Amino acid sequence: MTTAIIGGTGLIQIKGLELSESKNIDTPYGSPSAGYQLGQLNGKNIVFLARHGNPHVIPPHKINYRANIWGLKELGVTKIIAVAAVGGITQEMFPGRIVIPNQIIDYSYGRQHTFFEENLEEVTHIDFSFPYSENLRNKLIALAQTLQIDVYSSGVYGCTQGPRLETAAEILRMEKDGCDLVGMTGMPEAALARELELEYAACAVIANWAAGKVEGIITMAEIEQNLKRGMADALALLEKI
Ligand code: HPA
Repeated sequence: MTTAIIGGTGLIQIKGLELSESKNIDTPYGSPSAGYQLGQLNGKNIVFLARHGNPHVIPPHKINYRANIWGLKELGVTKIIAVAAVGGITQEMFPGRIVIPNQIIDYSYGRQHTFFEENLEEVTHIDFSFPYSENLRNKLIALAQTLQIDVYSSGVYGCTQGPRLETAAEILRMEKDGCDLVGMTGMPEAALARELELEYAACAVIANWAAGKVEGIITMAEIEQNLKRGMADALALLEKI
């Protein structure tokens, strides 16, 4: 059983990974974002994929999510930990913190979001009531506790289209909807993993307060600085998983 890590903004490679092979896979849905990095992390076989490519050039709405997930399935992966930068909306979601979300609201549009649309024997509706694997979520949370890494153990992830950040009014609406976090890549990634029966959990690193949550504008410099801090914690967690 192989675990995969999909790295987002701020995580395009894993330093501790002893690389044995970089594998390019062609899928029926086109090319994945980058070569799959196969290797050992802390003695365990893992696969790493840079979601935005390496270098980091593919914006969230242009990522070939179907190819990325299909390729992982083809490699025999059964579990995916998706690392992603997010904005914090509600009080506990402050920059630099890691959150293991438990729910999703999808505001993205126009993305290739399903494997079940052509050559079907029958119309297929997957259950997605609980979009993340509780088993994987609990493992991440328990491990964080052992390592004394501050991890918030739940949150509703709102997925926006990007690549622009949100308006303050959009964030207010998302907060009223029940979102705690805002990111641009959580969907359709999570649903595609479910369609292929892969366990999937997210490790969200809060890069900034979402639009309108503090005075002033959101700068890339602020995002990068907070990500550096949060990704160090995320990496410490991933190395032990
Ligand atoms: N909004 C959406 N995605 C993000 C943000 C944000 O504020 N910060 C990091 N990813």
